[in-house]
Amino acid sequence: MPNSPIPVITIDGPTASGKGTVAQKVAQHLGFHYLDSGALYRLTALSVLRRNTPLDDEHALAKAAEHLHCHFNGAHIFLANEDVTNDIRAEAVGNMASKIAAIPTVRQALYGLQLSFRQHPGLVADGRDMGTVIFPHAALKVFLTASVEARAQRRYKQLIGKGFSANMEDLSKDLTERDARDSNRSSAPLKAAPGAYLLDTSAMTADQAVEQILSWHAAAKPI
Ligand code: DC
Repeated sequence: MPNSPIPVITIDGPTASGKGTVAQKVAQHLGFHYLDSGALYRLTALSVLRRNTPLDDEHALAKAAEHLHCHFNGAHIFLANEDVTNDIRAEAVGNMASKIAAIPTVRQALYGLQLSFRQHPGLVADGRDMGTVIFPHAALKVFLTASVEARAQRRYKQLIGKGFSANMEDLSKDLTERDARDSNRSSAPLKAAPGAYLLDTSAMTADQAVEQILSWHAAAKPI
């Protein structure tokens, strides 16, 4: 129904809270599109890291975001025509993404691209500001959290599984620093949107979290 409003479910939360896995499963279950907004910041970070763009050159950073040549094909993520699905998950890229994400002109440059993912029959969008800034009128908003220990454990497994080396102590320190940076920045900080359902997944499997979100979705009013 091309003229009916396109439903959006936003899933925000800190790094390694499991929101990516959960959001993809919810999207798959409902047959909705999926936006991994963190991937857009990571793609921008990878592109500027490769060009050695200095962090204080905000103009060049915003230009890199504005001219991001990327596309998504199933689980694969491409920068220009190169498959960078694994490269963007490196900790160095995540840390750079968190730094450039604090710059308002970089966020502004990625705004339109994020909106363009809202297509029929619906969208599940995950990130930090999906419910607060990008899709403030979403029919269902979820804020996913988990303890630092649970998140470090998940990130450790994820990195080892992708062939990166990892160390729990460094990961916990990195997560805590990144949380502080993402939550304390003045532009679109990480926080629960008004009306968001809070879901602590420390002691939950991804499938249990998915089930909870699907039941909230079933009870939510269509927009
Ligand atoms: O979700 P992630 O770890 O892939 O995101 C990488 C970084 O991108 C994260 O540290 C903060 C930033 N980000 C953001 O500022 N806003 C979003 N909507 C998504 C990610």
